[in-house]
Amino acid sequence: MPQPHERGKPVAPGAASQRVPLTGRAEFSSLAGMSYRFALITGATSGIGEALAKALPAETGLLLTGRDAERLATLKAELGEGNRRVETLAADLARDAGRDKVIAAAQELPVDLLINNAGTGQIGPVLEIPAEREREVAEVNVVAPVVLTRALLPGMLERARSERRRGGLIVVASIMAFQPAPMMATYAASKAFDLHYAEALAAELSGQPIDVLALCPGGTRTRFGARAGIHAARSNGWDSPERVAREALAALGQRDVHVVGGRNRLVTSMPRFLPRRTVTAIFRRALSGLGEA
Ligand SMILES: NC(=O)c1ccc[n+]([C@@H]2O[C@H](COP(=O)([O-])OP(=O)(O)OC[C@H]3O[C@@H](n4cnc5c(N)ncnc54)[C@H](OP(=O)(O)O)[C@@H]3O)[C@@H](O)[C@H]2O)c1
Repeated sequence: MPQPHERGKPVAPGAASQRVPLTGRAEFSSLAGMSYRFALITGATSGIGEALAKALPAETGLLLTGRDAERLATLKAELGEGNRRVETLAADLARDAGRDKVIAAAQELPVDLLINNAGTGQIGPVLEIPAEREREVAEVNVVAPVVLTRALLPGMLERARSERRRGGLIVVASIMAFQPAPMMATYAASKAFDLHYAEALAAELSGQPIDVLALCPGGTRTRFGARAGIHAARSNGWDSPERVAREALAALGQRDVHVVGGRNRLVTSMPRFLPRRTVTAIFRRALSGLGEA
């Protein structure tokens, strides 16, 4: 099924390293296909972020962040074999101090791939979710990508121009970004922000040597569900984080928005065919069942 906002021909998952540069982009393409020098991945301690870290080739150095220092140490030992440089930083992206720490560390490195992946969400009616938790969702999902991207993009652009390579920017949104979602209102709205932010940036940066991708996974088997209060029995049929990571890297530079999987593409196309209130009601019904056994 064709993707919305498609920029080039769809590629098979896993084909990132064989990409053919699109018209007007050859000038900034790396000779070795799209291999990046250094990737900053937020939320790398589990799920999609960890899968992305593992999917990148060994020639790409890594700055991995999350709050779980023990998990970061394990990943550093696992992925830092040979000459590969793997840096880790435990930081809370819900707070200015944590975001500033990540920015300072990244500015010391030749980051040319920024993956804003860290995210959190909570199921339930807005008025039943503690105010502090609602705030955390907005801080991690909205403020952190904006602040990190704004701080790091100028250096990424400068390096890409001077080295005549392309950089990459991935913002992990969700299929929840395409319509309002009662029972996950704040989370879905934060992901709508991520989607629009990445799409707008992609347009602003067209002609520049940075590829931007809004990645929109559907249900994925990570720690997200349990942390959000979604019952484990409801995650049957969800995608693996490895699939999501593979498709993300294949789509980067090929299109601005990538929805993972045919069923999810059908779900995200609903607002184009049905009245918005109907789609909102469908989501309300679907999400109301997720917290129950
Ligand atoms: N799983 C799904 O069904 C699904 C579907 C669509 C979109 N997504 C999106 O995919 C992204 C990755 O989530 P996931 O599914 O892989 O879930 P996950 O396994 O829970 O991973 C979330 C990551 O974000 C980090 N994180 C959360 N809060 C943080 C904070 N305050 N400061 C720093 N790091 C924080 C976590 O690190 P620590 O625990 O170490 O802090 C963890 O590494 C999120 O943006 C999520 O919204 C997930």
